[in-house]
Amino acid sequence: MENSSGISTTLFITFLLLIPSCCVIFVNCKTLESSSLSLDLTIPDILGFLDERLALIFPIIQAFKTTITSDPLGITSTWSGPNICNYTGFYCDNPPDNKTAVTVASIDFNGFQLSAPSLDGFIDQLPDLAIFHANSNNFSGTISPNIAKLKFLYELDLSNNLLSGVFPVSVLNMPTLSFLDIRYNLFSGTVPPSIFTEALDVLFLNNNNFALTLPNNLGDTKALYLTLANNKFTGPIPRSIRKASATLTEVLFLNNLLTGCLPYEIGFLKKATLLDAGNNLLTGPLPSSLGCLESVEQLNLAGNLLYGQIPEVVCALGNLANLSLSYNYFTKVGPLCRNMIKKGVADVRKNCILGLPNQRSAQECFAFFLSRRSCGNPAWFNFLPCKIPPLTMTRKRNLLSYSAPSRNRVLL
Ligand SMILES: *[C@@H]1O[C@H](CO)[C@@H](O)[C@H](O)[C@H]1NC(C)=O
Ligand SMILES: *[C@@H]1O[C@H](CO)[C@@H](O)[C@H](O)[C@H]1NC(C)=O
Ligand SMILES: *[C@@H]1O[C@H](CO)[C@@H](O)[C@H](O)[C@H]1NC(C)=O
Ligand SMILES: *[C@@H]1O[C@H](CO)[C@@H](O)[C@H](O)[C@H]1NC(C)=O
Repeated sequence: MENSSGISTTLFITFLLLIPSCCVIFVNCKTLESSSLSLDLTIPDILGFLDERLALIFPIIQAFKTTITSDPLGITSTWSGPNICNYTGFYCDNPPDNKTAVTVASIDFNGFQLSAPSLDGFIDQLPDLAIFHANSNNFSGTISPNIAKLKFLYELDLSNNLLSGVFPVSVLNMPTLSFLDIRYNLFSGTVPPSIFTEALDVLFLNNNNFALTLPNNLGDTKALYLTLANNKFTGPIPRSIRKASATLTEVLFLNNLLTGCLPYEIGFLKKATLLDAGNNLLTGPLPSSLGCLESVEQLNLAGNLLYGQIPEVVCALGNLANLSLSYNYFTKVGPLCRNMIKKGVADVRKNCILGLPNQRSAQECFAFFLSRRSCGNPAWFNFLPCKIPPLTMTRKRNLLSYSAPSRNRVLL
């Protein structure tokens, strides 16, 4: 700086002061920004910025840096000087709208343990951001509606922070977004049902305080991974879930307040490898259609109010590695399921199955069955939306391949 000319230094300072203040004061500061930019086109070069876009966001990053209250790993000490592309956590690339420009395209703060009272005025002011990952930090506050202005953003991972407030509805106006992970925060209130019509591949909402009756359009989701676990979702699993049969791969309803009977339409989820609706208030018999979940490896319905016979077709599923049905009120199991219990694949502890160890007491079972229970049309529960080969004990099971354990799994 000392060696650069006085004029350019003054201009640069004007430039730094001008941009953020105009952005704060005027809603539509685009024109002002670009006019001041064209005046100062040479400035960034003089000061060593690779690109004017980097010069523009420099003050944003520096302002954010001053709000950080805890940085045990010393990350922000690398955030100085004009070489923004070399700051720890910042990644540069050529933006789609100008292949010769250089800009901050992604930020990965995963595991940095940074604390700051807010991300507002930071991510929403980085106009070229495509990816923002901030898993496992201590960021608080709410999400600025201004993130809707980020026209390239497609991955937003804010998981495992202390963020609060209502669902960040501004994401509904971001057609580029395909990955939304806000699990393990303190968000509360409802979730706008239209989130399920967004073209998201991944929607992780688990471990917040969301409360909502599952909307009828849930099945419109295009998500491969949908986690609603550990919230206060209510109501039945919507029958529309069948519409997600071509995509839904892992779905977690675990630990909510879901009620009603399982719709047979769940059986259409032929891509699902993981289906978890454990620890809810679901009732009724298991629909035989579950026997059509040809990809399912883990099926968890433990801790509900389910009853009746465990359908043999479920125990015949070739990829099933874990069938958790404990803490329900099932009364019958056939030979295939008994075999699965013996092999440790099926867990039916604490049910009402005569002759098996570790069942509920007769009084508990009696009390449960005192109330009359029904689930609409009983025919639904025998309906099979797929062709199933004859059930035999010797049916060959597909073994998981060696790559299965290392596969990128949804972690709770
Ligand atoms: C970028 O940072 C690395 C170490 O973090 C350093 O060795 C290198 O010189 C830096 N590059 C520039 C251009 O500042
Ligand atoms: C593209 O970016 C380069 C480098 O920042 C800049 O010189 C050029 O004017 C930009 N082109 C347009 C059309 O904005
Ligand atoms: C983050 O917040 C948690 C809970 O408030 C606290 O226990 C932890 O020490 C904080 N971590 C850092 C790095 O500040
Ligand atoms: C099977 O799934 C249940 C419920 O998700 C889980 O608690 C249990 O640990 C799993 N068992 C094995 C052997 O992985």
